[in-house]
Amino acid sequence: MDGENSSVVSEFVFLGLTNSWEIQLLLFVLSSMFYVASMMGNSLIILTVTSDPHLHSPMYFLLANLSFIDLGVSSVSSPKMIYDLFRKRKVISFRGCITQIFFIHIIGGVEMVLLIAMAFDRYVAICKPLHYLTIMSPRMCIFFLVAAWMTGLIHSTVQLVFVINLPFCGPYVLDSFYCDLPRFIKLACTDTYQLEFMVTANSGFISVGSFFILIISYIIIILTVQKHSSAGSFKALSTLSAHITVVLLFFGPLIFFYTWPSPSTYLDKFLAFFDAVLTPFLNPLIYTFRNQEMKVAMRRIFRQIVNYRKIS
Ligand SMILES: *[C@@H]1O[C@H](CO)[C@@H](O)[C@H](O)[C@H]1NC(C)=O
Repeated sequence: MDGENSSVVSEFVFLGLTNSWEIQLLLFVLSSMFYVASMMGNSLIILTVTSDPHLHSPMYFLLANLSFIDLGVSSVSSPKMIYDLFRKRKVISFRGCITQIFFIHIIGGVEMVLLIAMAFDRYVAICKPLHYLTIMSPRMCIFFLVAAWMTGLIHSTVQLVFVINLPFCGPYVLDSFYCDLPRFIKLACTDTYQLEFMVTANSGFISVGSFFILIISYIIIILTVQKHSSAGSFKALSTLSAHITVVLLFFGPLIFFYTWPSPSTYLDKFLAFFDAVLTPFLNPLIYTFRNQEMKVAMRRIFRQIVNYRKIS
């Protein structure tokens, strides 16, 4: 990256979430707790799915991959935010800022495609159960994974190519606790109207587009389930409601950030806080606490660990 040559800026200053000491303390306790809990919850899902042969099916592989991405969601901005909470001067280097933007958009792209893959998996399982194993073959899973990572990489790289050489001449203050494109571009000292439009179009189009694909596929699935109402359909509906909750939690704040004309910074910040800290924690909770197979597998793992301790 030769961004430093064209822009003399070497660091940005975050204004952070709030100046109130009490609220900072509260946010510190909450975000540390949720950070640790989501790292543990998602790692536990990955461990359970990879180590239990009962769970070696496309649905659980995709779930484990979603947990892997959620480890990234928790780590891309929360640790820095927690570290900064009580610091008077919250700074981030130019490189650090670009790195955060780069990873935020990779992770966002991967997560969207994974959610679409999970919806497709449920669509096949519920609407074409007899062809499930041939359609959701290992090759199909690999295809979804490659598609997810390529989408994330290309989307993120395209955005960065446009902003990496922007000239900055101060102030270098971001009214936020992490770097992201809308605020970053506003700091540049050129006419950024077209760039802002490009970013809104790019991120906005991807998120609104995936959101509609997901909503439409869930509507198709629900209509199919209603037609063949049977014992299995109740279970299918409960899995679906978990998926739909995750989709709404993930896309709600995103669509707000990238498509709202002039967001109120206060609401914006707290939505971002919610997205960074709470969603990666809620995903494992939503998927496992409603899923009997997952709970049984986790108990099996705990028992194995306990037995192993007794023997050795
Ligand atoms: C992601 O999915 C692939 C293929 O479906 C699987 O082999 C792999 O173990 C999964 N990754 C994680 C971290 O669970």
